[in-house]
Amino acid sequence: MQAKITSFFHASTSTWSYLVQDPATGEAAVIDAPLDFDPASGVLGHASAAAILQAAGRDGARLRWILETHAHADHLSAAAWLKESTGAQTAIGAGIEQVQATFRQRLGLEDEPELDRHAFDRLLHDGDELPLGGLAIGVVATPGHTPDSLSYLVGDAVFVGDTVFSPQAGTARCDFPGGDAHALFQSVWRIYGLPATRMFLAHDYPADGAEPRAEVPVAEQRATNTHIREGISEDAFVAMRRQRDAGLPPPRLLWPSLQVNIRGGRLPPPEANGERYFKLPLQVRD
Ligand SMILES: [Fe+2]
Repeated sequence: MQAKITSFFHASTSTWSYLVQDPATGEAAVIDAPLDFDPASGVLGHASAAAILQAAGRDGARLRWILETHAHADHLSAAAWLKESTGAQTAIGAGIEQVQATFRQRLGLEDEPELDRHAFDRLLHDGDELPLGGLAIGVVATPGHTPDSLSYLVGDAVFVGDTVFSPQAGTARCDFPGGDAHALFQSVWRIYGLPATRMFLAHDYPADGAEPRAEVPVAEQRATNTHIREGISEDAFVAMRRQRDAGLPPPRLLWPSLQVNIRGGRLPPPEANGERYFKLPLQVRD
């Protein structure tokens, strides 16, 4: 039986989230669910994540897995809120330990003992399989954008995280710590070769007036993706990717996102006055 896949677009961060269900048993997984966050006011909300749970509830589905394709730098993960709400298990790629180490040091969070692998219920490795009722979720390590990047294979569908974007947008940046354009090229070709025909994107940035796209046939990407398609060499891709990355600004929610996402979607602990804060490393220039 095919999985039932429902997509949810988070317009303020251009993020796609997915509810994946085994229709036979009602077991479900959520992939890359965001919190709502306004960086100017510091207001956080759960309405977008709650909408995913409501959709699951309408179908009589029971959430078993809360999956991340990687520690995102452009939105805050709702994983911890979903776990609290449902008791489902959180999981991310084992490379998260490298990401946690980098940003624990960069943000001066070394004395926070729980900021390690135990921020997630499960760390995943290439080749792992997660049961979903009568279906299985295959784990495919697809590093390059970040060292913890994974894709999830469910039947004929693959959820690619930030590896490939739409055919017009191409690929994800590779200039974050642990990013590697060579690795991304290899990962994208690995995805193109998987036994999947449908690719589900983690983001889309449509032109004004156009609808965002969640699903792209793998064959269309292989033939037309503007960055990685038949006939483009690894060296040509890497040169293009590096040049492009050199001109990209940091994501708008970079620092708040990382501070939540390396903690498995939890907020920073409260300070003595009971308030929680995000840190912003400063770079003073003349
Ligand atoms: Fe990302």
